[in-house]
Amino acid sequence: MTRTVKDYIRTIADFPHEGIMFRDVTTLFADARGFRMAIDQLLHPYAGEPIDRVVGLEARGFILGGAVAHQLSTGFVPIRKKGKLPGPVISEAYALEYGEAVMEIHDDALRAGERVLIVDDLLATGGTAEAGIKLCHRLGATVIGCAFVIDLPELGGRKRLEAMGMEVHALCAFDGA
Ligand code: PRP
Ligand code: MG
Repeated sequence: MTRTVKDYIRTIADFPHEGIMFRDVTTLFADARGFRMAIDQLLHPYAGEPIDRVVGLEARGFILGGAVAHQLSTGFVPIRKKGKLPGPVISEAYALEYGEAVMEIHDDALRAGERVLIVDDLLATGGTAEAGIKLCHRLGATVIGCAFVIDLPELGGRKRLEAMGMEVHALCAFDGA
């Protein structure tokens, strides 16, 4: 039978903590057919839609976002964890399981009115993506969609982003956290 994108994702039990089923996309990225399928399918819902820029969320969103941007012949813009970008930035804090983290974007990385596609590997609580969306909006860009390889629906990220009016696409879903 033909393998789907989901078939290329390896699950590692008890990483990084006991009880967590870690969805490992390195096995998808490492496979030529799997990786191309993932990039093609991430783009599929947006065929024919104008996209000015692809925004990737550190770190695994860089691998996917770079390939998506290349395919679209657009530029790629990174949203990085605090303290990594060299120029002037704007920041958004988001909640983690314990404490909080901060995402940043260069304050001149997007132009007002640009149509942006946000790309990441995984949608869990949606905190990372929400911070990314807010950063794009603060620069005046329009986020036309958020594309993920994996959705973990039980963690509520999709509902959270849809409640912000976002269009969310994911290539596959896994039950449980
Ligand atoms: C993971 C994943 C997503 C995010 C999803 O990144 O790659 O970016 O968590 O979680 P959320 O929807 O609950 O915000 P993580 O920050 O663990 O590390 P990375 O730098 O390896 O991508
Ligand atoms: Mg990540």
